[in-house]
Amino acid sequence: MVVPRPVELESTTDAPFVLGPTARISVAGAGAESVAALLRDALRSDCRRELVVVIEPPEYGDIAIVVADHEGPEGHREEGYSLDVAAEGVRIGAATAAGAFHGVQTLRQLVPASCSDDPLTIDAVRVRDYPRYAYRGAMLDVARHFFPVRDVERFIDAIALLKVNHLHLHLTDDQGWRLEILSRPELTRIGGSTAVGGGAGGFYTQDEYRGLVAYAAERHIAIVPEIDMPGHTNAALASYPELNPDGDAPDLYTGTTVGFSTLLTGDEATERFLADVIGEVAALTPGRLLHIGGDECLSTSRGDFVRFIEHAAALVAAAGKTPVGWHEMGACDALPAGTVGQYWDFRTPRGNAAEDILSFVRQGGAAIMSPADVAYLDIVYAEGDAIGQDWADGPTSLSAALQWDPARIVPGLGDAHILGVEAPLWTETVETIEQAEEMTFPRLAAVAEIGWSPAPADTEQVEAARDFPAFARRLAAVAEHWDASGTSYRRVAEVPWPEGARP
Ligand code: ACM
Repeated sequence: MVVPRPVELESTTDAPFVLGPTARISVAGAGAESVAALLRDALRSDCRRELVVVIEPPEYGDIAIVVADHEGPEGHREEGYSLDVAAEGVRIGAATAAGAFHGVQTLRQLVPASCSDDPLTIDAVRVRDYPRYAYRGAMLDVARHFFPVRDVERFIDAIALLKVNHLHLHLTDDQGWRLEILSRPELTRIGGSTAVGGGAGGFYTQDEYRGLVAYAAERHIAIVPEIDMPGHTNAALASYPELNPDGDAPDLYTGTTVGFSTLLTGDEATERFLADVIGEVAALTPGRLLHIGGDECLSTSRGDFVRFIEHAAALVAAAGKTPVGWHEMGACDALPAGTVGQYWDFRTPRGNAAEDILSFVRQGGAAIMSPADVAYLDIVYAEGDAIGQDWADGPTSLSAALQWDPARIVPGLGDAHILGVEAPLWTETVETIEQAEEMTFPRLAAVAEIGWSPAPADTEQVEAARDFPAFARRLAAVAEHWDASGTSYRRVAEVPWPEGARP
């Protein structure tokens, strides 16, 4: 009853575990205590149980979290874990705190959602589990509509349950600049002051952003900040006239057209701006990846685009980060070694998309796969939906979000060069966190399963191999937890949802 499907989950013949009144969470090893604290908090909020965390060996009936070198499935140190549930206790073993954290997410899903009833029992199981890909991402566009810190924290909590380990924040676009840059205060004072539709906008101070990074890190999620350039930049252009090709600051923009804006390229003022912005974002971000966009630069000539991106990517590398960019950046052939491309064309590549993403691999980099027709979370579920867009072959469905394979999209691009998958949520039409969740869930669960669970044996016949009916049954059990925690989700007709909880 777990999503993403674990590598191995066997029911055993042991008697079930019963969480008794004296049960504790026993921890050992680096990072185990903070993972245990999150489990304690989850049991308190999900089940109204109060457990203490102790740095002592487990006793009968305890939940043990052990982080040590030899723990967890061999060969999968980074994020693998083992989980054993039996009458004498629950035991999570992992070589890293990240692995133990993922084990806790599996345990939370195995705990019945009606867990505040007495007694709380968990059927005996033995789990050995680790991810297919190192990168399982969700993206939240906070530029088109702004989402304050508490909303992003709520989103982080919800994606963590699915073992998603990267949150890509699309921080800047034509309609808004959402991250304070101390050396460029007008970016947020002017550029952050509105949103699609003319709302009040908003931005994260550097302290708030640091807080978000720390909140995510505690949940073993890395924030990937995106500063989109040289297109999608009207908010910056409105803030600093010298960044404009004609030297004049345009009005703020609150519509939804794409492709009209570009930074002035090949100019010292823009280069100083890039150095300032990239320097501050890199310094604020402990994660390895820094995204510089590069998509839909329809108002930048190809030559200018290539020179600009190669310069910006070199600045990111010089700041000690690995550049990431949308696949259009593959038009460049002098990217820093290791630059990551994010593919956002369809399952069947069109135009130059296949060539563009392969260019990253040729330059020593890797790919994140976000095929828009199946992985974009803003594509409508049904004709006529008020929220969402239909440009990427919409409406789409939960089964479509599951029935594809990252290694079967671009000929010549296999798992050796795929870092992982990401499901982006663009928010032109999404204004509240409840709406954001309803677009994200349940489809993110499908993309998370593709990113975590083993490749189907037959990726040629991926539709059958993914076994959608079994996925839908497991998802229905996860939805009981969404109901209990107040996470919004779309009750698509393809799933036998739990009855009664929500309309
Ligand atoms: C994109 O959807 N423009 C990356």
